[in-house]
Amino acid sequence: MANSPCFAAKHVAVESTAMISRRAFLSSAALGGSLAAAGLGGKYLAVSSSTGDFIVEHRPISIPNLPQAFDGYKIGFITDLHLSVWVPEEWVIRAIEAVTANDVDLLILGGDYILVNESTLWQNLDIVRDERFASLSKRDAIPQIYSAVAACFQGRVFRDGIFGVVGNHDRWNSFPTFQSIFNRAPYVKILINEEVQVSRGESSIRIFGVDDYLTGIPSPPPPLPSDQADAVRIIVSHNPDYIATLLGAPQHKFSFAMCGHTHGGQIVLPVLGPIAAQVVDERFIVGQQDIGAATVYTSRGLGVVGLPFRYNCPAEVTIFTLTRP
Ligand SMILES: [Fe+2]
Repeated sequence: MANSPCFAAKHVAVESTAMISRRAFLSSAALGGSLAAAGLGGKYLAVSSSTGDFIVEHRPISIPNLPQAFDGYKIGFITDLHLSVWVPEEWVIRAIEAVTANDVDLLILGGDYILVNESTLWQNLDIVRDERFASLSKRDAIPQIYSAVAACFQGRVFRDGIFGVVGNHDRWNSFPTFQSIFNRAPYVKILINEEVQVSRGESSIRIFGVDDYLTGIPSPPPPLPSDQADAVRIIVSHNPDYIATLLGAPQHKFSFAMCGHTHGGQIVLPVLGPIAAQVVDERFIVGQQDIGAATVYTSRGLGVVGLPFRYNCPAEVTIFTLTRP
């Protein structure tokens, strides 16, 4: 199971590891007691992330027909930020700074920018990592947290900009508010069934951002022009299940797809695996899959949902480097 989170953590270059003491982790979450009671070993807890530490995954992506000018092109990918009482602004800022430190050409955001938690579980667990959002009603929280997310990216300069897609949480919350706030933040361009081209001299690659598969109205990328049949197309889809619908359809050919949504399972139990990955196609729960000439990559994402911690599934910021075979 080469793409399981615990294996993924061993096979990538690690710049920032989530090293939390077993005692600290268990004291931070109610589930910890039951996990300890189950006798789960410290080696799994050593890669848990409940304090905002993340692994910077470096992934070379080999793309047939990649123009020479894009050999070595670097894309930062941050998904499932879920800014909230559980995921403070500081974590998002540090993720952006990690991408910046890697001198990427482009930053892509995979959706699910906020989390508005309607349960009071977080109160019971006394885990409030961003006090500003703790006392807000849902109506007030949505615009304030989306504004805070957008502000995190203000003034961040990448050579080819910042593009984002829509996640299910962005549709579930107030989608008009989401759109309104990002429309006032032109430094992040949200792609909803929309394609942009990034150029280097005479060469270009295409980046198509799709609407959310579960909650939106996704549509496939348009057929490539006949004189550009070998063009490189990258698809960004919050939900990897949508990518499965494109595989095997020559008219929707793509080179590389990047996805989020699953959080890699977020809580991955030894032997049992992820307790909830939220995808139908289990090939795409986490990590890289090479399918024919295409590569599909699902990130574990940055934030959390449901419970305010991760287990055996550290948060992730991804640096893709496009290469020629
Ligand atoms: Fe998410």
